[in-house]
Amino acid sequence: MTSIDSVQVETPGGSYPIHIAAGRLDALAESIPDDATAIAVVSNTTVAALYGRRVGQTLAATGKHMVLIELPDGEAHKTWESLNLVFDALLGAQLDRKVVLVALGGGVVGDMCGFAAACYMRGVRFIQVPTTLLAQVDSSVGGKTAINHPMGKNMIGAFYQPLAVEIDTDVLSTLPAREISAGLAETIKYGMIADEAFFSWCENHVQDLRARDPEALRHAIRRSCELKAWVVSQDERESGLRAILNFGHTFAHAIESGLGYGQWLHGEAVGCGMVLAAELSVRECGLAPEQAERIRALVAAIGCPVQAPDLGTQRWLDLMRVDKKTQGRVIRFVLLDRLGQARVSPVPDERVEAVLAAIPAGQGS
Ligand code: NAD
Ligand code: GLY
Repeated sequence: MTSIDSVQVETPGGSYPIHIAAGRLDALAESIPDDATAIAVVSNTTVAALYGRRVGQTLAATGKHMVLIELPDGEAHKTWESLNLVFDALLGAQLDRKVVLVALGGGVVGDMCGFAAACYMRGVRFIQVPTTLLAQVDSSVGGKTAINHPMGKNMIGAFYQPLAVEIDTDVLSTLPAREISAGLAETIKYGMIADEAFFSWCENHVQDLRARDPEALRHAIRRSCELKAWVVSQDERESGLRAILNFGHTFAHAIESGLGYGQWLHGEAVGCGMVLAAELSVRECGLAPEQAERIRALVAAIGCPVQAPDLGTQRWLDLMRVDKKTQGRVIRFVLLDRLGQARVSPVPDERVEAVLAAIPAGQGS
């Protein structure tokens, strides 16, 4: 019998367990409520080809009507068009409001399926089954759901909590190495913003993590989920504390929309964004330069880019202003006082420019 780690999320919008175990896909039927009339598995072409059949067989044990909805793969498809494919399939199969959606995939599928669940018939239940490291440590937990708009990342969405998060660590074996690196960016983020000891642990285990050592991955996933659950249980709707989870993301979202969604992976952009945010933290709130250097070194060690693309200073600023933290056109950044302690601060454009000016011309654009 495989052991299961459990972490509980408690929010006004819903309380639910995160289960973490090898082989958890085979126990998915346990999380389907008895009164569900049907199950709609929302996935993409890549993940459905790998795991769709197995999940279908597992869920068949419930005896409930089941449909599989396959979306096109990729961040560039996190759009209204894909969302409508889900609604077309749900309505086409005449599924009622007791349907349970199952998000089987990475953060793109999870965010879109969650948003579809929030909207279909004004809200139906859903379960997160994250299959990338990034989705297991971050996007499946906490109820942020969204699609992208050509003018800004994740700009259209809702807070909507799942019934459960079911994490099967075995599925990481089929994930490309680049995606492991991208997931590690969100993993090491927790150490930077909230747990210096976890940051040090990641420094000491970076090679184990990249080599997919099962024990190292399981520890990293559990600790990340604990830290994320701790944050969102205090501030579900990001009226304060939750914003610290966006460390590096203001720079990252500009990279993603500036280069075109899908050029850099979200986690890669976050890794590079955290290096820039650490440099800004040195200037703005006295983060020790040695700690900023440890952040740069760890981002490089997980295999993410540390050199920012040259988008042009004005374009960087315009793109970063399209951010949900912006107030009165002043961009607000998550900054570090020290490793393990974050805060949100407004930073005038001219002081951000000092960091952007250090990006070599023509780099990575
Ligand atoms: P993704 O969903 O695009 O998945 C990455 C790639 O891996 C895709 O090609 C996918 O098909 C493939 N894949 C997934 N599981 C696989 C497996 N087990 N084996 C082989 N291939 C597999 O990207 P992602 O990094 O998981 O998620 C990024 C998205 O998550 C972004 O859109 C980002 O905005 C969002 N996000 C949301 C939150 C949140 O709180 N809701 C937090 C962080 C990120
Ligand atoms: N990934 C940021 C958040 O969940 O708030």
